[in-house]
Amino acid sequence: MVYDLIFRNVRIVDGTGAPWFYGEVAVRGDEIGEVSYKIDAGAKRVIDCKGMILSPGFIDAHSHSDSCWFVDKRGESKIRQGVTTEVTGQCGASPAPATGKGESPSILEEGEELRWSTFGEYLSALEANGVGINIVPLVGHSALRSSAVGYDARRPTGDELQEMKHLLVEALSSGAFGFSTGLIYPPSSFADTEELIELAKTMSAYGGIYATHMRNEGKRLLESVEEAIRIGREGNVPVHISHHKASGEAAWGLVKESLAMIDEARSQGLDVTCDQYPYIASATGFKAIIPSWAHEGGSQALLARLKDPETGARLKKEVQDYQGPVDGWSKMLITSVASEKNKFAEGKRIPEIASILGLSEVDAAFKLLIDEELGVGYANFGMCEEDVKMVMAHPVVMIGSDSSCRAIDGPLATGKPHPRAYGTFPRVLGKYVREEKVLTLENAVFKMTGMTATRLGLTDRGLIRPGMKADITVFDPDTIIDKATFEEPNQYPVGIEYVMINGVMVVENGDSTGEIAGRVIRRK
Ligand code: ZN
Ligand code: CU
Repeated sequence: MVYDLIFRNVRIVDGTGAPWFYGEVAVRGDEIGEVSYKIDAGAKRVIDCKGMILSPGFIDAHSHSDSCWFVDKRGESKIRQGVTTEVTGQCGASPAPATGKGESPSILEEGEELRWSTFGEYLSALEANGVGINIVPLVGHSALRSSAVGYDARRPTGDELQEMKHLLVEALSSGAFGFSTGLIYPPSSFADTEELIELAKTMSAYGGIYATHMRNEGKRLLESVEEAIRIGREGNVPVHISHHKASGEAAWGLVKESLAMIDEARSQGLDVTCDQYPYIASATGFKAIIPSWAHEGGSQALLARLKDPETGARLKKEVQDYQGPVDGWSKMLITSVASEKNKFAEGKRIPEIASILGLSEVDAAFKLLIDEELGVGYANFGMCEEDVKMVMAHPVVMIGSDSSCRAIDGPLATGKPHPRAYGTFPRVLGKYVREEKVLTLENAVFKMTGMTATRLGLTDRGLIRPGMKADITVFDPDTIIDKATFEEPNQYPVGIEYVMINGVMVVENGDSTGEIAGRVIRRK
């Protein structure tokens, strides 16, 4: 028996949370063939790992790599972190379905065109195109709702609700692992709890999880957790809370209670889990600072309201009243703009931009949104370290980057994205495991592999075991760390030596090999 490859002299962290052990791992084809203390068989290739850590390839529990594949298949910013699988379609946003009433989803990369209408067609387009990382897709509620209802801020009619259910079932039957909501993003935000319970009930018969970017992650965090739990309970589906956090100083500390609510729900038999990225700043489209009511009708309608003297003034007041008291503006940093003319704003905070423009903060914010026709991204430094650590240490929290693939070259090398795009996994292993000892190495790896695989029902990934798909990451626990910062995010981390996806080496000696080896994984 000759294997394709054997990793020798390695410390195996197997993804279960069990302590590491010295051993060897053999790969044949796209599978792990053998795991033991000593492998006698030969191999076409042997890699001496010099005592580094070998673990299952990391699973990004919360990814926005929905359409980046059509402009750059490499998945660079993720494979360099050791990520081999991503859970996409998050925060209510997926590129499909796109069947009718609504404007086409804004999550496409610049210049991309829609080439599908149903979810199944989208997955086939991904497959035909090729993906650098395994994709585990969710369907987004915004896509369901915009296809059936458009951008109206109202309850769906009976027929429209039927249509949403029909589209949900189509997605689940095509391979979606569940559906996600983005309850601060229109049109997902236009749904009431009852609508989501109805959809959950429909999903219940087909399997799948309910992943949610909750309605409020600030002072009303606990109400939001209550809503998520209620949807799980009444809809009879597992609940997964996305990027769990308490944002804004007034909300700091609330995660203690929210995590207790999750424990309580679990003790009553409801399956609730979370994910988290390891930063005190969040990031999203800057238009999210505008109150939900002004988004009705979609982007053009929102833009018209911002420009309208009367409505614009009313919105400015609402935004100022909300942001002002919590010292909001100085915590906001612009990450990307669409036009050359405002490039100066990238990497700067709002007060600095305002003083450059000679405007008040709220006027500067509105000017950017109007100038860029809403194409502005921002980061918000709203969290505190204590909360981040408390959430991270909780037993049902897994790691997710909340970002799409970027690269330091090619078409995805734009803007100054939140550094989580490049740094999430190495940061947990370097800063929170090695330096601050918030987690043990084995527990951290479990939160990046076995726990996430179990959550999604992936039975052939996430562990180092014979018969599992050969998704493998080898890293140096003494040097692994993120390099990306808010000022200079476009930097790959260090300390990740080898990354293998489906038996194909995609990172070798810390550099990518250029191989495209991911697969679209459909729920069976
Ligand atoms: Zn989100
Ligand atoms: Cu997200």
